[in-house]
Amino acid sequence: VSIRRAEMQDLQHMQHCNLWCLPENYTYKYYLYHGMVWQSLLYVAEDINSGRIVGYVLAKQDEEDEEGTKLEHGHITSLSVLRTHRKLGLANKVMQSTHRDMDKIFESHYVSLHVRVSNRAALGLYRDKLGYETFDTEEKYYADDENAYNMRKWFRKKL
Ligand code: ACO
Repeated sequence: VSIRRAEMQDLQHMQHCNLWCLPENYTYKYYLYHGMVWQSLLYVAEDINSGRIVGYVLAKQDEEDEEGTKLEHGHITSLSVLRTHRKLGLANKVMQSTHRDMDKIFESHYVSLHVRVSNRAALGLYRDKLGYETFDTEEKYYADDENAYNMRKWFRKKL
């Protein structure tokens, strides 16, 4: 499996992977928007033998956070890895790649994301492997009313 930056032709395969893995789905237009504006932050895990996209991270940059504070930061829109390719370190690798670009290219202060409070696998990755901290809990964030942790990982001095 190789980890590489996504190209425009990968977007539909990333969308496909997302549909298999998560109930939070997005229009193709939203993938296009990420691809056109934030291409350097999009990474895929490609199975070299089959040429199949087996994992991805979809990410963007933002200036303002939810409270209206202006601070350049990255945001992870979506991350998933096909069931057949989990526990191989692929999510960890695509996340580290996008973090590096957020930090070095965009000089982000931090990166944020939302995750279901029940998502043990993702929380293990974010908290234990990648050093995210819980910033806030957002009540009924998801369509089925589950709460979300709003998490942040700081690249620069915490403000
Ligand atoms: N249980 C507990 N911890 C886990 C699990 C699990 N099933 N899977 C991964 N982890 C943690 C561990 O700390 C692991 O480190 P270790 O292998 O040294 O123990 C660490 O995460 C890294 O694991 P990876 O192998 O890199 O993770 P993987 O490639 O399997 O992908 C992911 C993890 C993306 C959460 C995957 O399980 C998945 O696609 N789940 C469904 C979709 C999803 O929940 N995506 C995240 C939604 S939040 C968002 O998109 C912002």
